[in-house]
Amino acid sequence: MTTATLRTLVVGSGFVGTGIARRLARAGDAVALVSRGRPVRPPQEYGARWSALDATDGEACGRLVERVRPERIVLVHGPSDVTWCEAHPEEAAAAHAAATANFAALSGTSRIVMISTDNVFDGRAWHNTERTPVSPANAYGRAKRHAERLLLARAERAICLRVSLVYGHEPVDAGKWLNFFAACAHRLTVGERVEAPDDHWTTPVHVDDVAETVAALLSGPDPLPPVLHLGGPDRITRAEWATVIAEALHAPAGLVLPVPKARSRYASRPENACLVSELLPTLLATRAVSVRGVRDGARDLAAAFLP
Ligand SMILES: NC(=O)c1ccc[n+]([C@@H]2O[C@H](COP(=O)([O-])OP(=O)(O)OC[C@H]3O[C@@H](n4cnc5c(N)ncnc54)[C@H](OP(=O)(O)O)[C@@H]3O)[C@@H](O)[C@H]2O)c1
Repeated sequence: MTTATLRTLVVGSGFVGTGIARRLARAGDAVALVSRGRPVRPPQEYGARWSALDATDGEACGRLVERVRPERIVLVHGPSDVTWCEAHPEEAAAAHAAATANFAALSGTSRIVMISTDNVFDGRAWHNTERTPVSPANAYGRAKRHAERLLLARAERAICLRVSLVYGHEPVDAGKWLNFFAACAHRLTVGERVEAPDDHWTTPVHVDDVAETVAALLSGPDPLPPVLHLGGPDRITRAEWATVIAEALHAPAGLVLPVPKARSRYASRPENACLVSELLPTLLATRAVSVRGVRDGARDLAAAFLP
């Protein structure tokens, strides 16, 4: 039996977008990956095709959709740097709003999944479920929340998947601020110290588990809930997590220096950036999708960072 090739458009070819595009292309989808600049890793290596697009340009988005005719769309574009968004709140909000509105208007009957964030919460609740009232913690959270509302109001088959801190391998020369795991791992393997807040909790998710979940949602039955949460099974501070990473890399635990969040680059993040889903486990029960804990994740990734 042959499986029909599905046309999937992934908007944003950064850390998370590449992980999702790679997963879908390996499963046989015809994946079109877009961003303004070329991705760090050539998409042809894993069977996807890249082309240049500024997602805030409505006419260019229209031409792309006409050419690709996507059956599924994943919005995973930036700006993603929380610190940059805090310094440029209007630009951040305008970029997320424009890109989301463009694809919401063009999605037709295609399923469209937007990767959203725990920063839509103020961090006062120990855990945030799909029923926790939103109250964005910062400019990034406000921009993403506005984009969520636009998407859900304008697209027919939309899902906002709010994802906790994503981690995985990124090369040291990726030319951007690396994900926390990769930033720590690159420093620890060369014996450099790592400062990490001991009062900032998160539920980290391996990028491959994000990709697996997105793949399941893209092919899931209708209707699916419009808002879903994805967090890992471990609720952990960044300082504890850095210690787990050090252990997996056989680096001295003394290289990890716990600091207060307020004195770190994470000052504007919600204190409890933790996500729990009341819905996803049931929806994915038959799909063999699970999210690994941070110890398994560190073990699985260690070899990629060791010389
Ligand atoms: N990483 C996480 O822990 C995490 C957690 C929850 C949610 N998310 C969400 O996932 C998304 C991606 O995160 P990431 O970590 O993968 O970020 P990233 O590595 O910075 O990638 C962002 C991508 O978006 C592209 N982009 C930015 N502006 C664009 C535009 N106007 N048109 C087309 N492409 C554009 C960037 O390329 P160019 O600049 O070259 O265009 C880049 O390829 C963000 O929206 C973020 O909110 C991430």
